[in-house]
Amino acid sequence: MTKTIGLICGSLRKNSFNRIIAQSLTDMYDSVQFRWIEIKDLPLFNEDLEVGGDPEPVTSFKSAIQEVDGIIIVSPEYNSGISGALKNALDWASRPPKSSVLSKKPVGLIGATPGGLGTAFSQMQTRQILEAMQVHILPFQKVLISQVHEKVDSEQKVLTDEKTKRYLQRYLQQFIYWIDHTPILD
Ligand code: FNR
Repeated sequence: MTKTIGLICGSLRKNSFNRIIAQSLTDMYDSVQFRWIEIKDLPLFNEDLEVGGDPEPVTSFKSAIQEVDGIIIVSPEYNSGISGALKNALDWASRPPKSSVLSKKPVGLIGATPGGLGTAFSQMQTRQILEAMQVHILPFQKVLISQVHEKVDSEQKVLTDEKTKRYLQRYLQQFIYWIDHTPILD
């Protein structure tokens, strides 16, 4: 059966480099479908908003997560840490803690920055947060895209760097394999 991979971008910026990178994945394999899972309309996490049931943007967000076989998060780093918008989305997805829609979901992490360290710090934090939520994060592999502004055509909003394309293609191949081989430990 055709697999569906959800794409979450941790940047809300219209011309986001990370969104361009995420979009580039969608052309790489005919055998998988991609679905954007948007986070921009989620309210700031507040336990009071859960009383009587989740508000509507949260319900759709959680359903979207439930409907995909795996999720790739493509996110920038802000001040050596995770994007606030992404953390907010993960906090919503983590609830209720015993039956989170992200629990045991295969997840891959990618990050891009015009800087030199490729979002290494934010990915470490994100990994730690996801582990606390029992997410099945693709192990070992890291995609840290530095100097991203030299690797994309910002006008056309496409990835142009061939080496990065090949790297992402390989990563995607591994992620697709991971979806079928995540641990079954409880
Ligand atoms: C940044 N940026 C940044 N980059 C980085 O590699 N490490 C960092 O710690 C930070 N910190 C940071 C803080 C704030 C408040 C801003 C606005 C930016 C630069 C960041 O990588 C750059 O703006 C990217 O272009 C953001 O990603 P998108 O929106 O292009 O996907």
